[in-house]
Amino acid sequence: MVSADGFRRDVIAGLSLPQKALPPKYFYDARGSRLFEAICRLKEYYPTRAELALTRRYIGGIAGFARQHGTLIEYGSGESMKSRLLIEALCPSAYIPVDISKDALRAAAAKLRRRFAWLDIRPVYGDFSRPLKIPLPQGRGRRVVYFPGSTIGNLTPEEARAFLRMTRRQLGPGGAMLVGVDLKKDANVLHAAYNDARGVTAAFNLNLLARINRELGGDFKLRRFRHYAFYNAALGRIEMHLVSLAPQRVNVGGHRFTFEAGESIHTENSYKYSVEGFRALARSAGFRAGEIWLDPKRLFALHGLVAA
Ligand code: AVJ
Repeated sequence: MVSADGFRRDVIAGLSLPQKALPPKYFYDARGSRLFEAICRLKEYYPTRAELALTRRYIGGIAGFARQHGTLIEYGSGESMKSRLLIEALCPSAYIPVDISKDALRAAAAKLRRRFAWLDIRPVYGDFSRPLKIPLPQGRGRRVVYFPGSTIGNLTPEEARAFLRMTRRQLGPGGAMLVGVDLKKDANVLHAAYNDARGVTAAFNLNLLARINRELGGDFKLRRFRHYAFYNAALGRIEMHLVSLAPQRVNVGGHRFTFEAGESIHTENSYKYSVEGFRALARSAGFRAGEIWLDPKRLFALHGLVAA
């Protein structure tokens, strides 16, 4: 659960590290979720469109892999376009969206209820990066965790492996996963996607400080920080930071943090994988790497995995 205490604890711990850092899951308050949806519509931000394109194109094959009439569990269900395609193709007996943003979860569930009146929808509000109690209806069909959007890229490969292992245990034998993974590509394309001309990604990043001010009584001056995102090729990841423009002190919940000029808060990693790289990771977590679907421009991959 996303308690205010958890938020406070994570912020104070993160800002106390030698390399200050904040967990990206806290981006998604109401304003952050809206800003992320705006990012998804940017011309520079290709992942959303690429994933939608491959889902449309290969929906038959994807549904064949997942099989019909099972339970569809979706992690990070914020935006519901692809879920709709999948629900139409799979006719699951139950759909369990799991999200850390209460507002996004409620809005998505309401929308899907109007459209799929026959469907048993059971939203779960929570943090899927930790073991979760998910009500799994007893059905004969396959249990499939749908984890789109390359959200898995927020985790380091070691964390991703642990997360895949945990999910495999929760799914049980025969359980499957559909995981959307952003592909490695030209660093310029990656750079543009996280440094859009209109500054929406910058606003998304800076909103984390606004949220800390609002919810934890912090006194960050947003104009004294700048959005910075770059591709770290050695580690295969985009890194997002907020860079302090001057020496300054910031107070959060009775704690004082000092910043040097140029010192950053590391706010997000977004790992990119080759097809083979992700397959190897999935195998090392106990999955049999099954099918893979790519968009026509080969920007994004959807991996079908089965618990080994
Ligand atoms: C939702 C984590 C997949 O890493 O591309 C978009 C978040 N951050 N622009 C990503 C994000 C900046 C996004 N994920």
